Amino acid sequence: MIFRRWCLLTGAICLLLAGLGCDSLMTSAPTAGDDFASPVDGLDTDLSLVFLQGDENFAKAFTVAEGLGPIFNNVSCEGCHPGDGRGSPATGFFRFSKDGDLLIDNGGPQHQDRVIAGARLIPETVPEDADRSFRIPPVVFGTGLIEAIDEATILALADPDDADGDGISGRPNWVTAAPWVPYSHVGGGAGPQLGRFSRKAQVSSLLQQVTEAYNQDMGITSDFLPEENFHAQRSTTVVVGDVAPDPEISAATVLQTTMYVRLLAPPRRGKLTDAVQRGDGMFNSIGCANCHVPSLQTGAHEIPQLSQQSAPLYSDLLLHDMGPGLADDRPDGDATGTEWRTTPLWGTRLVPDFLGGHEFYLHDGSATSLHEAILAHGGEAQSARDAYAGMGAAAQDDLVAFLKSL
Ligand code: HEC
Ligand code: HEC
Repeated sequence: MIFRRWCLLTGAICLLLAGLGCDSLMTSAPTAGDDFASPVDGLDTDLSLVFLQGDENFAKAFTVAEGLGPIFNNVSCEGCHPGDGRGSPATGFFRFSKDGDLLIDNGGPQHQDRVIAGARLIPETVPEDADRSFRIPPVVFGTGLIEAIDEATILALADPDDADGDGISGRPNWVTAAPWVPYSHVGGGAGPQLGRFSRKAQVSSLLQQVTEAYNQDMGITSDFLPEENFHAQRSTTVVVGDVAPDPEISAATVLQTTMYVRLLAPPRRGKLTDAVQRGDGMFNSIGCANCHVPSLQTGAHEIPQLSQQSAPLYSDLLLHDMGPGLADDRPDGDATGTEWRTTPLWGTRLVPDFLGGHEFYLHDGSATSLHEAILAHGGEAQSARDAYAGMGAAAQDDLVAFLKSL
């Protein structure tokens, strides 16, 4: 957003330079480092313009006339991912199913709690006996770096049978890609694909994540998913959709928005105080870093800023059994009801700035401080959690100071 504001201010110059094919001004776009909405440094003019357009798409609030609904959760991407950061429990939603059945005919697998006026639909309800999983929106920056990490780099961290005996057995989520994702796209193709995105790594490609966000979260059809998402819990037999013809947005728009999130840079690190350095040491010594791997190297990529980069995400992107306390008891792809993708910790220091001073952590936002989030760890993380619980208040403060420097 900072980039957008800056560029709008100098909009005429931007366009003029774009027209002349001159990169110099765009490449010096400010990367404040204290926000989640800046692009990776040094984009060329073409990508800068796509980024700018994608930024507008991300902020766009859809109206009924433009195709919102008929059932939906929110009117814009930004409404759920404020400032490109995480959301709160107010903007989360339930996924539900029953023993692996996605309950398509009963409103599943996502609970859209809003309906446009005049659609003659009642808001969806989650069936009483469904397995339900409440999820708050995660950050969206850095997803291009995540996409650019070679599959082999992630798989090398997996230890499904805990062969090294450290009590930690991360494993990949092998999922089926949506058929319309091009085979050439990371995570697209026939056969099992490595899941990277969302809380259980149940989505293999950024394009699928974004297309389904349009379709499911906002009721916006596209060339990729041209059919409106209705549900079977109707109030009458006559269902009226929104008035916009389908598809409501083009493939080009979805690709722009996908490129926008792909190009969002992680914020810079906070100050490295003595407390932060002590906390960093403990983070490693008590085993947090076994799952929250400090950085992963990206592979070769056509966008130089994403190619062969060290991505400081503090995650292995693998699934871990986190014990009964965090379980949702709802399998997703290969992931069981107790498994979650290690949440990347980059940008943790800025969390309250984007949520009106509040903090919400974990998949469901149930922890309102880092201390609570750590104490909620169980399963494979039990020994790291217990080491934290037993280390005394001063050492705990140092560990939290370290997290607040990320
Ligand atoms: C109603 C709220 C809502 C809206 C609107 C929404 N999202 Fe999300 N988004 C979520 C939630 C919740 C998740 C996690 C889903 C899960 O784990 O199953 C998510 C996940 C993501 C991820 C994956 C991030 C990661 O760490 O793996 C990306 C990228 C993303 N959203 C982008 C978008 C884009 C782009 C749009 C608009 C086209 C959008 N979202 C609209 C709630 C929303
Ligand atoms: C066995 C792997 C594992 C270990 C060890 C581990 N974590 Fe986690 N961590 C996870 C997973 C998986 C999640 C997501 C859990 C969820 O959302 O329910 C998570 C979530 C978090 C979160 C919440 C992030 C957010 O934005 O919601 C924080 C903070 C965190 N871990 C810090 C730590 C610290 C500090 C330690 C060491 C004491 C640690 N973790 C040890 C796997 C691990």
